[in-house]
Amino acid sequence: MRRPRFIAKQARHAKGPLGRLIAFIMARETWAENLRAIDALEIRPTDHILDIGCGHGRALGALAARAPRGCAVGADPSDLMAHIAVERNRALVKSGRAKVVVATASDLPFADATFDGAVCVHVLYFWKDLQSSFREMARVLKPGAKFALVFRSTQHAAAVRSFPSEVYRFPEFREVEAALADAGFFVAPAENEEHGANAHLLVATRRHE
Ligand SMILES: C[S@@+](CC[C@H](N)C(=O)[O-])C[C@H]1O[C@@H](n2cnc3c(N)ncnc32)[C@H](O)[C@@H]1O
Repeated sequence: MRRPRFIAKQARHAKGPLGRLIAFIMARETWAENLRAIDALEIRPTDHILDIGCGHGRALGALAARAPRGCAVGADPSDLMAHIAVERNRALVKSGRAKVVVATASDLPFADATFDGAVCVHVLYFWKDLQSSFREMARVLKPGAKFALVFRSTQHAAAVRSFPSEVYRFPEFREVEAALADAGFFVAPAENEEHGANAHLLVATRRHE
């Protein structure tokens, strides 16, 4: 079924009561893919992990659980999503084990080499360009850090048909790989790629320059 444009726009930038409902539905719809990305990071107990476009913040709880002496940090440009993510993880935020900032992937309010890993699930469709966001992520990740990216590409024909192209841009798979390499990531082919029927999981490693 084709998603109406006003729903797709809420997924890009949720606002108001409808945005709250979309956040609730999204947290269920994307959960399995978030777990795939989180598993792929092989998180250590002291890790600081970034979730880019964290939305409703469901993944932050799972990230914090795997890094009991570290921190899970979400970044999202929607004030409503950031608010929901804080509400959902109130106890973790209070104890300093989770944090949420209002920010876009291309302009992150963190020092260089802050994070040991990052996830980004179903977010890149909304970026102005892949390069500036990947470069910014490379900047905030430590050399050797893993970055687990879940996205649909032009290979997912049903999704391409279902989501309005004025809101969602589905890239070519090879375009994403090339932009990651250009931004300072190493993408080992095959073993770090899973081409699911629903989405790709691509695991990149921040290169030591
Ligand atoms: C489809 S939702 C996915 C949310 C969550 N990652 C998940 O898996 O359920 C896309 C999220 O990306 C956020 N977003 C949109 N543009 C963004 C950007 N330029 N940088 C970071 N996040 C962005 C939206 O606010 C929204 O929360």
